[in-house]
Amino acid sequence: MILVTGGTGYIGSHACVALTQAGFEVLVLDNLSNSTAGVIDRIARICGRRPAFIEGDIRNESLLAQVLGGYRVDAIMHFAGLKAVGESVEQPLQYYDNNVVGTHSLLKAMREKRVRAMVFSSSATVYSPTEPMPLSECAARRASNPYGRTKLVLEDMIEDVYAADPDTSFARLRYFNPVGAHESGLIGENPKGFPNNLMPYVCQVAAGVREKLSVFGGDYPTVDGTGVRDFIHVMDLVEGHVVALRHCLASRGLLTVNLGTGQGTSVLQLVHAFESANGCVVPHELVGRRDGDVAESWADTRLAREVLGWRTKRGIEEMCRDSWRWQLNSTQEHCT
Ligand SMILES: NC(=O)c1ccc[n+]([C@@H]2O[C@H](COP(=O)([O-])OP(=O)(O)OC[C@H]3O[C@@H](n4cnc5c(N)ncnc54)[C@H](O)[C@@H]3O)[C@@H](O)[C@H]2O)c1
Repeated sequence: MILVTGGTGYIGSHACVALTQAGFEVLVLDNLSNSTAGVIDRIARICGRRPAFIEGDIRNESLLAQVLGGYRVDAIMHFAGLKAVGESVEQPLQYYDNNVVGTHSLLKAMREKRVRAMVFSSSATVYSPTEPMPLSECAARRASNPYGRTKLVLEDMIEDVYAADPDTSFARLRYFNPVGAHESGLIGENPKGFPNNLMPYVCQVAAGVREKLSVFGGDYPTVDGTGVRDFIHVMDLVEGHVVALRHCLASRGLLTVNLGTGQGTSVLQLVHAFESANGCVVPHELVGRRDGDVAESWADTRLAREVLGWRTKRGIEEMCRDSWRWQLNSTQEHCT
């Protein structure tokens, strides 16, 4: 059985689908701080099989002992965490508590209950903004906000835990920019309140929930002046997790690998691709640059291909179509 922390969240819910469809038994642990329990029903509808679900917090050590003692957990996919950069600047202690203390509790429980493998959600935000493109796994790391620093701390904590017990196995997966949704339109990214990421914002503007998209920075040294990112379809991303999990279950070691497409797409290119894929209009305006944003970021994907034999299959058009289908199907309850 695979314990999926944060399994009702955006990436975690898609991982539950990919894991179930790959034949794994799934147990979700989520405190529902950024998701709803209804997601479990939707996963069950897609897969024809319902993951086990426990509502709870990864910082609750007695609950973790109970969960890992009560189920035969072979590995953990660890998605639970807070992820909004701006919020992390305003509430750093909440981020250190949730992300760092939470993961510390999980690693401790893992060691006590002798669970030997973990796949961990890291982020391309750990790379120093001055590194050249494409970003390879050995590029220098330097975070520029508290959220990124929690990922740096956690990458290091995992490395130390592995070094102390080389009979364990960890994959630290550095995501680029996950977008899109499952093709059923039943699960997707459902931000509570104001969206922090570009694609949910684009969807909400296209749906008329928000008036227009502000594009931060039109004077970067890029193809059209707007920021360039490596957007990756969430289903490709979670398929990468399943391959990484199999790798961890089959061997001992510490793997650090980028999950991206290796292709950069500018914000304006994404907006235009969205409009033409979905036949709708996304009103937008160029505004000033935002503090902390880099001009461009895309992945060197060679290691993922060489070590995991994994590569992405879905393009920008599919990302835009699937995001829009999810927007149309999902309720508007969190959009205001
Ligand atoms: N979405 C991205 O763009 C992105 C990029 C890079 C890395 N990541 C990382 O991937 C992971 C998943 O991101 P997501 O986009 O699915 O976020 P999400 O907010 O949709 O999902 C996270 C889930 O974890 C749960 N959770 C949070 N704190 C918890 C706690 N203490 N105990 C139990 N459950 C808790 C939330 O309720 C939510 O369901 C995060 O660690 C995030 O930092 C995300």
